[in-house]
Amino acid sequence: MVRPCRFAIISDPHIALPHTIAHTPQRFHLVEVSIPAIEQILRSLETEQLDFLLLPGDLTQHGERENHEWLVNRLKRLPFPAYVVPGNHDIIDRDGGDRTLGLADFPQLYRDFGYTGDRPYYHQELLPGMHLIGLNSIAFDEDGQQLFAGFVDGPQLNWLSATLETLRDDWVMVAIHHNVLEHLPGQARHTMGRRYITQNRDELLIRLREGQVNLLFTGHLHVQDIAQAGDLWEITTGSLVSYPHPYRILTLTPQTSGQLQLAVESHRVQAVADWPDLQITSRQWMRDRSQHFMVRLLTSPPFNLSTDKAEFYAPELQDFWADISAGDSRCDYDQFPAEMNRLFRAFGAVDADGRYLPIDNQATLQLVRN
Ligand SMILES: [Fe+2]
Ligand SMILES: [Fe+2]
Repeated sequence: MVRPCRFAIISDPHIALPHTIAHTPQRFHLVEVSIPAIEQILRSLETEQLDFLLLPGDLTQHGERENHEWLVNRLKRLPFPAYVVPGNHDIIDRDGGDRTLGLADFPQLYRDFGYTGDRPYYHQELLPGMHLIGLNSIAFDEDGQQLFAGFVDGPQLNWLSATLETLRDDWVMVAIHHNVLEHLPGQARHTMGRRYITQNRDELLIRLREGQVNLLFTGHLHVQDIAQAGDLWEITTGSLVSYPHPYRILTLTPQTSGQLQLAVESHRVQAVADWPDLQITSRQWMRDRSQHFMVRLLTSPPFNLSTDKAEFYAPELQDFWADISAGDSRCDYDQFPAEMNRLFRAFGAVDADGRYLPIDNQATLQLVRN
């Protein structure tokens, strides 16, 4: 039986040293808070008895070498191990350049944080009988340009199956930047949702199920959400640089039945220097940028509204994405036509039967292996 274990997750910190920040008016990420927010969380985590910290990608804002180096140097000072996987913001193109990291540089730079060789994926034993597999979902076309969505290539899938085969009797958790399970209705096919998912997730899911993996950790979507498919749970954690600026602390406790219980707690960064009302300011920041986004959503399937109608309804939905990002949203707009409200309710924290089930932030999950 494994021993109890406690660990933290910080996702999508999008680290940006002040001089690397591009000031574009419609920028969605509040990257100005990346460094003060991560400093505040790490100082707090350093006082906890943690077994490790996990960062599921988008470590930097734009793959900048100096932002990666800042993070590496900060993680080196932690009193517990940290593990990372790459996000789409971390390796902008395969070959990198003087100022940006390439794919081959990533496992080199982060060799103290999971990587054991040249491959951009790894296996680490966290504690006796408990393992972490870090996968790479950042893939490139033949010209070295990044693919639109996540993709786990064939050699990596085969390595995953072979590795899981050697860990049959143990517990394994997997970290990957792109979502594998859907966290929004129809995400895998939706024009706006599919860039957040692993394109060949069906193949990946077969390998994970064969290997009895119960637990996936992802990022990328910048939303607090916990999804379940059979015995597999996927915990996606919101971004440190967008509302509600969350991080999580998780506790795994072995049960007498031989199964594991996972307690999830979520916290928010309430304020940092220069942002004394971060929660309020950041929600407003998202609201101010919501019109274009909501019109796109409303004119796409399954809503399929005309542009005029979408522009009419969008102001009433200015907090929609902030509410989704925070998790546990009810998404109930009873002022809307019944069919439209039915479609919106499916975005909320509901189970397969449409019942409200708020497990995105605070939850106790039972992990079951046969
Ligand atoms: Fe991100
Ligand atoms: Fe991302």
